[in-house]
Amino acid sequence: MRIGTADLLACPICRSALRLEIHSARGDEVLDGALRCLRCGREFEIADGIPRLLPSKLRGIERQVYGSIASYYDAYLPIMEYIYHNARIAYMRKVEDACIRLTRPHGLVLDIGCGIGRQSLLLARLGCDVVATDISREMLLRARERAFREGLEHRLEFVQASADALPFKPRVFDRAYSLFGAFNHAPRYVLGFKRVFKSLKKGGAFLLSVLNRYQLTWWLEAILRHRKKQLMRVLTKKPYYLTMKLGRKRRGLWTKLFSAWELKSSLRRAGFKKIRIGCVLLFLRPKFRYEPDLELRGLEASLAGIEEALRWFPPFSSLGAYIMALAEKR
Ligand SMILES: C[S@@+](CC[C@H](N)C(=O)[O-])C[C@H]1O[C@@H](n2cnc3c(N)ncnc32)[C@H](O)[C@@H]1O
Ligand SMILES: [Zn+2]
Repeated sequence: MRIGTADLLACPICRSALRLEIHSARGDEVLDGALRCLRCGREFEIADGIPRLLPSKLRGIERQVYGSIASYYDAYLPIMEYIYHNARIAYMRKVEDACIRLTRPHGLVLDIGCGIGRQSLLLARLGCDVVATDISREMLLRARERAFREGLEHRLEFVQASADALPFKPRVFDRAYSLFGAFNHAPRYVLGFKRVFKSLKKGGAFLLSVLNRYQLTWWLEAILRHRKKQLMRVLTKKPYYLTMKLGRKRRGLWTKLFSAWELKSSLRRAGFKKIRIGCVLLFLRPKFRYEPDLELRGLEASLAGIEEALRWFPPFSSLGAYIMALAEKR
């Protein structure tokens, strides 16, 4: 972490200013140290150049939920790139990239739930300075490794933080991004949206995508393949647990599925005024398995073509596997 970055940071718990203590540094890079809150006195460590600004001293269920999200994604990392390698996810990536360009990214931008840095690196390539955040330290380490490999490290800073307890001062970012579902795993997401709103400058914009509760393909499957039980489970369970076998263990991930209406109203409650809702993967379900081909073909390509025309128009905008929201701070 560069010394100057400390000026952007605030306590994730009480949002007060932090005092930087440097234990070891190389030039203006802090390698090890601490950030101490000037109001509540909590201390957050900086280890190997990455500040760990997670909500601390959580009790009971919250502690379990946050702990399990971070460890789920730490364990998910080795298979992630492999299972995202298929034509449907590649198509979704193209849509995400086009939407990012639509926001005219510039200046200092925030990436929430950066994973291994897909969007952070794109934003850096587009000339932005990027603060990349994630709850999983393993993800951040991999993203930083990739930034070095691409010679983009001077444009990026990495902070371990939860989407719903972001540790930034008000009015520092020009744009904020959170693509591919980090907010599905943020129990206090309304608070999270409020913090994103506050940390944006006037005229700033926030682009995010989350997993949808009302996916057209789920409804079609329930009707055509008699999978009503599965649909009811998704519609009624609160919260829903995504499960996956990672290593030897089957793990559950706390997941909040959003409806477009809920997403829009939560963003409005956070202070955003103009909010556009769109969808991704309207007629196609996302696949999470390796396939060599990265191009949609035949019927799937035609369905994607139709999706292009319908993406931002209701009711289709609310029915994709992922809902996209573009929210502006006026
Ligand atoms: C599916 S990945 C997407 C990563 C990246 N944006 C991309 O599109 O490749 C979701 C990421 O969100 C992170 N995440 C999950 N819950 C989070 C939370 N509460 N706060 C911050 N990051 C979170 C995970 O660690 C993971 O890296
Ligand atoms: Zn504090």
